[in-house]
Amino acid sequence: MKSIEWVDGKVRLIDQTKLPEELVYLEISDHLELCEAIKKLKVRGAPAIGIAGAFGVVLGLNKMNDKIFNINNYINKVIDDLRSTRPTARNLFWALDRMYKKICSLSGESMGKVKKESLKEALDIYMEDEEMSRKIGENGVELLKDECSILTHCNTGFLVTAGIGTALGIVYTAVEKGKKVRVYADETRPLLQGARLTAWELEMKGIDVTLICDNTAAFLMKKGMVDCVIVGADRIASNGDTANKVGTYNLAVLAEKHNIPFYVAAPHSTFDFSLKNGDEIPIEERNPEEVYMGFGKRRAPDNINVFNPAFDVTPNNLITAFVTEEKIFYPPYGNWGGLKNY
Ligand code: MRU
Repeated sequence: MKSIEWVDGKVRLIDQTKLPEELVYLEISDHLELCEAIKKLKVRGAPAIGIAGAFGVVLGLNKMNDKIFNINNYINKVIDDLRSTRPTARNLFWALDRMYKKICSLSGESMGKVKKESLKEALDIYMEDEEMSRKIGENGVELLKDECSILTHCNTGFLVTAGIGTALGIVYTAVEKGKKVRVYADETRPLLQGARLTAWELEMKGIDVTLICDNTAAFLMKKGMVDCVIVGADRIASNGDTANKVGTYNLAVLAEKHNIPFYVAAPHSTFDFSLKNGDEIPIEERNPEEVYMGFGKRRAPDNINVFNPAFDVTPNNLITAFVTEEKIFYPPYGNWGGLKNY
């Protein structure tokens, strides 16, 4: 099952807002419709947003016709539309920059060739992503004991990559290799990616998964029920400070307190070496409604003030190791030699 694909000139994706009740596929042929899908989290998770961005550029190119006078302006507009969907996941900007470079390198070529080569670039991004998640899984397995309990946050599995996922990719690979793995999935307030998506995909794949409220993590750790925490990432600064779904930082602090290793799993496309540290990572703030509405009903007084950052930043000193497609990096962070594009 693929969460996002290029099929017959369209982007075919699982509408993640409908899970777990319904498995609905969307077929999108317009880049603005895809922008809406990204904003509304129909497609979400850093690597999948990057792939969607790359496909979005191809959709934009495919709509080009004789009425468009200034091709450069048109392409810049398509890329800007996609760029302005969500600010935090580095993979989106990484993929759009790569598509832009490809298109620039084709200047002077026929429109047919530009479209064909751009599609090839987007499909390369897709296939490389699939391969990266496979390698992250392979590399991460050595961190797990033969029998272990993992706590995770948000959703980082096949729904967010072209392959098996990042943090959950390690889980899938470990189980495939015969390890006995139990996963505790944080429900991940406010949009419940853990409850709706992680619990759904792990259960479907036959993995031992137990859903907990976000505020249960400390109790679990205190009782010795967690061997390690593994999460994904949306953007990692040069010094290793890491933005991921809000609540990740809480887990890192708790893990340190309880002497539990805290791992981040991510491909090179999530690293942003233009940023010195986590203070420079743009953090998305989302609609207050996501917080005050719950279970389809208003759960807080009218006009209540709400602060709703979608991500937080975990400082590098709380991260035991990064699992990438190249290798596992341990502190001190800053020398990422071996990681592509470094
Ligand atoms: O707001 P979301 O659901 O897109 O947030 C996703 C996350 O925070 C994931 O943990 C992150 O993108 C890593 S996915 C490999």
